Amino acid sequence: MRCDHTPAWQALQTQAQHFHAFDLRTAFASDAQRAGTLSQPAPHVFADMSKNHVDAATEALLQDLARQTGLTAHRDAMFRGEPINTTENRAVMHWLLRQPEGSLGGALAEPLALVHATLKPMLAYAEQIRADAQITDVVNIGIGGSDLGPQMAVLALQDFVMAGKRFHFVSNVDGHELVGVLQGLKAENTLFLIASKTFTTIETMTNARSALAWFQAQGGTEVARHFVALTTNVAAAQAMGMTTTFGFWDWVGGRYSLWSAIGLPVAIAIGAAGFMDLLAGAHAMDQHFQTAPLEANLPVRLGLLDVWCRNFLNFTNRSVAPYHSALRRLPAYLQQLEMESNGKRVDRQGQALPYGTSPVLWGEPGTNGQHAYFQMLHQGTDTVPVEFIAVKKATHHLKDHQELLLANAIAQAQALMLGQSDAGGHQHFTGNRPSTFLLLDELTPASLGALIALQEHRVFVSGSVWGINSFDQWGVELGKVLAKDIHARMASGDVAGLDASTTALLQRMR
Ligand code: F6P
Repeated sequence: MRCDHTPAWQALQTQAQHFHAFDLRTAFASDAQRAGTLSQPAPHVFADMSKNHVDAATEALLQDLARQTGLTAHRDAMFRGEPINTTENRAVMHWLLRQPEGSLGGALAEPLALVHATLKPMLAYAEQIRADAQITDVVNIGIGGSDLGPQMAVLALQDFVMAGKRFHFVSNVDGHELVGVLQGLKAENTLFLIASKTFTTIETMTNARSALAWFQAQGGTEVARHFVALTTNVAAAQAMGMTTTFGFWDWVGGRYSLWSAIGLPVAIAIGAAGFMDLLAGAHAMDQHFQTAPLEANLPVRLGLLDVWCRNFLNFTNRSVAPYHSALRRLPAYLQQLEMESNGKRVDRQGQALPYGTSPVLWGEPGTNGQHAYFQMLHQGTDTVPVEFIAVKKATHHLKDHQELLLANAIAQAQALMLGQSDAGGHQHFTGNRPSTFLLLDELTPASLGALIALQEHRVFVSGSVWGINSFDQWGVELGKVLAKDIHARMASGDVAGLDASTTALLQRMR
């Protein structure tokens, strides 16, 4: 049943009326158990949700909503490999990429065997490159999910990255990016990874061709040794002369592909064992999501809280603040995960929805954000829930820095909630501003894997309740088609049929 037709939705609407006067300070003062009740441990991640405008009674209604919209049946269908990506008639099985070898029978035994038959040579290749001192620079060319995941993970796991190799990521068709990276590189020392699920993405293909031309102009001859394709379209890669290829499958969405061959730069950076740890951490979260009861299931609790914030409290944004500089690309990664998955205005049957879906997601690492946009979070006219992500242990020895960092994360969440009175006005903080606090003990391949899988599943939960298909991305297609048309017109100067603004811009740029 569509979520807004369920009895739980009606009950939540009534419940939301009590929240006009909800105050976090009063809620804590009147309930000594609040912090405990609204916290949830999960593999590698502890979550404190108690500084949100929510309470146990509301959570119970949200769990009713999950039951009445068939969340667990939908989740189980995903884990059975059913084609829940209905607009593309595909299964959604990124989770299978982190499933231990031989651990599933039935219809999933064969795809799982294929996963491991691909993973093993990929990891062996990663080890071979790690041992190859001639390769000093690895350049990943890919965009969207073929860039953000590996880039985010290589940065996040910098403490585990081997010495002696540099990792570069080229995504934009803007030639400044490629030229900037190629400057200072030598053909014989460079390995290019051409990462594209479809091997048709214009940005990646353009960058790949230019990289190939640069390689040959530099006197490079062994294309097979210096260019590797990571793709589901092995035939297209081979047609470009790339004989070293690592494949994956159409049931892995681009923004869910970090765990597949798209993760090769991560495997080269942290090694085969590290990559296996990343998969194991994610698998632990998969198991938690599959087996924990709704009320103790962290992805479920977070995803339902997202629905509550978006549809009943009318918060349209979520700001992510990782308090670890190595997680600086995490907000960009989560932006694609949430907004490309759940930025949909129709249900799975194609009917327009009368309620909001994906929030606007954005953020920067703390403490930097505090000295930039946190002003608006504390004193602006809109309420923006903030998701703090902190890591308890540092790997450096500057103890005072780490304590200061963590103190700031806690203090910001506290300041948002507590506020400050000032009759004069300008120094008045209303307080009562919501936040969630995610805490990792340490940032390792396993904890990063769990954190990312948690985020994938919470996006699944809200998307499922909203009744949308979180696994297609038709919204990016129109721009691609029009760019092709405008590109041709830039060469020809033909402006026939264009609106006046587009015509004028085109003419200015020719
Ligand atoms: O344009 C959107 C998109 O299809 C993303 O979903 C995807 O991650 C990205 O482009 C890159 O696609 P590909 O890996 O096929 O090059």
